[in-house]
Amino acid sequence: MNEIYQASDLASGKLAALTPPARLSVFGDPVAHSKSPVFHNAALRASGIDAQYVKIHVRPQELPAALRALPAAGFLGTNITIPHKAGALAAVDEADDYARKSGAVNTVVVKAGQLLGFNTDGPGLLRAIREEFSADLRDLRVLLLGAGGGAGRAIAVQCAMEKCRRLVLVNRTAEKAAHLAAELAPFFQRGPTDRILAIPHEDQFLREQLAHTDLIINATSVGMKPADAPLLPASLLTSSLLVFDTVYAHDKTRLVTDAEAAGARAANGLSMLLHQGALSFEIWFDRPAPLDIMRAALQSAT
Ligand code: ATR
Repeated sequence: MNEIYQASDLASGKLAALTPPARLSVFGDPVAHSKSPVFHNAALRASGIDAQYVKIHVRPQELPAALRALPAAGFLGTNITIPHKAGALAAVDEADDYARKSGAVNTVVVKAGQLLGFNTDGPGLLRAIREEFSADLRDLRVLLLGAGGGAGRAIAVQCAMEKCRRLVLVNRTAEKAAHLAAELAPFFQRGPTDRILAIPHEDQFLREQLAHTDLIINATSVGMKPADAPLLPASLLTSSLLVFDTVYAHDKTRLVTDAEAAGARAANGLSMLLHQGALSFEIWFDRPAPLDIMRAALQSAT
């Protein structure tokens, strides 16, 4: 299960010859860190599906050909991780509305020889927020850190499509957040004029906006390394906040620890990882994913 295959293995027939045959995968560069095989293989076994899910190391220049090789290799589809989500959107035959708006595809389905693209990251976050905080994005005032990155964009688009109560886009490079706010403004036309705004990642702006925030989401990569400097001063965190850190490298990132110390409810990104995977399974097999089995597999692997 931990084996890493190469893009060339798709065309050679090697993957179809495995027992059970590989019919699903994750493409990434790097891909070794991916936890997706752990819970997808548990789901496939539990569902009695004669297929396995493998990691494939695909370099950027190999992506279009690797995707095109899927139908002949007998694949049902694949997941896409860094740095290929935007490239996959460009390479598929069709993509759903959310994938197009978010500029990213993380799930590809092979259907009648065509490649269909979806993005389950935003819907996965929606379910994770429900599970962790018993709350719906649409009812919340959200402050999103890292709105200028790929993950941040996908989350901002999901918040906009849900028409959350308020969306504050925060980014170190302020112009990127400002561009995204302008693009998403049409989703927020009803109600107070400041339902969407962009601010730089600076303490004075954060302090001002956190007074009008229910949920902080971290979509930066800060916190992946234990030595990373804090994303924001702990003194800005209060007990009334919900804090969701999409980073799941550690059980408790610095942000989660600081939030809990302030009395806030906080969660790391494992539930988002789980739910985006469950949604991919549902897209591939058109049936509910065995969520508890996937969760147990993920927990035992972390
Ligand atoms: P991508 O997701 O497109 O690959 P990235 O380089 O991983 O992008 O960065 C993701 C996000 O984290 C970006 O919004 C980035 O801010 P910039 O647009 O200013 O680069 C943000 N980010 C990365 N390191 C950060 C830090 N130390 N403090 C605050 N934000 C940071």
